[in-house]
Amino acid sequence: MKRNFISILDWTSEEIRNNLEYAVELKQQTKQGSCPQLFSGKTYGMFFHKPSLRTRLSFEVGIVQLGGTAVNLSEQDFKIGERESVSDVARVMSRYVDGILIRTFSHQLVLDLAKHATVPVINMLTDFNHPCQVMSDMLTVKEKLGRIDNVRIAYVGDSNNVTNSWLNMAARIPLDLRIATAPETEPDMKLVSKIRETGISTIQVTHSAKEAVQDAEIIYTDVWASMGEKNKIAERERVLKDFQVNSRLLQYAGNDALVFHCLPAERDKEITNEVIEGPQSVVFDQAENRLHAQKAILVQLDKWH
Ligand code: CP
Ligand code: NVA
Repeated sequence: MKRNFISILDWTSEEIRNNLEYAVELKQQTKQGSCPQLFSGKTYGMFFHKPSLRTRLSFEVGIVQLGGTAVNLSEQDFKIGERESVSDVARVMSRYVDGILIRTFSHQLVLDLAKHATVPVINMLTDFNHPCQVMSDMLTVKEKLGRIDNVRIAYVGDSNNVTNSWLNMAARIPLDLRIATAPETEPDMKLVSKIRETGISTIQVTHSAKEAVQDAEIIYTDVWASMGEKNKIAERERVLKDFQVNSRLLQYAGNDALVFHCLPAERDKEITNEVIEGPQSVVFDQAENRLHAQKAILVQLDKWH
């Protein structure tokens, strides 16, 4: 039966764990020049309604490495939901392609697309979630720490789509997740309660970055104003100034704490140049792992279809 990857919650704990195992295998095979040609004759359609470097390139390169083809549809071709209804687009595309990948503003649009598509739909980021990022980051956690369970993660800064996907991950894999943010930028506390109620993880929302990073193994941050809300940057700089990941903050964590950032970064805003370029930063390993984790996601969805 056709499955999607729109939210981390679409997959079970076991499916996520298996995906990470398979991503490790695919990474090794790819590095040895023997990526399996599982997508020979397959084509994937991609939409981007927001900018992208990593997501676009990692998915396109991944599909090509697996022997398939990716077709990128720009808004100049057509505006989904304007020239043609979402359901018509979904049904037409399903007759041509083996999967639909979309980065857009509205999460509901992706859900609607998936409802009418008969091929898998993959969420490459919405205002609400960024599941591919967090699945890939779990691969980096696995590689760096040798485990994914009960990892102490301090997420410092604005609560956004990436934070929400970490919260969702905490409903699938046991984590000690601390979110340090300003009162004005807290995550949706209903979502936090829902995740807490699963009883899988410990979730703390604090207004103290220092408290959050104490004995943290991972310190994670992202931009203070996401795509689509860059007009809020001045206000965010004001409310989030105490939530910068800088060398002073790192002193409150262990020397072994690793610094994650999904990129793109605004250096000297949410993270200092010194820290992102420093020895604890693993941001380019994270970027690389997008390729491997997402290839595993595509292959799994294709097997289910
Ligand atoms: N991290 C991430 O999704 O990067 P892009 O916006 O460049 O795709
Ligand atoms: N939260 C960021 C992530 C970018 C990859 C945004 O949505 O712009």
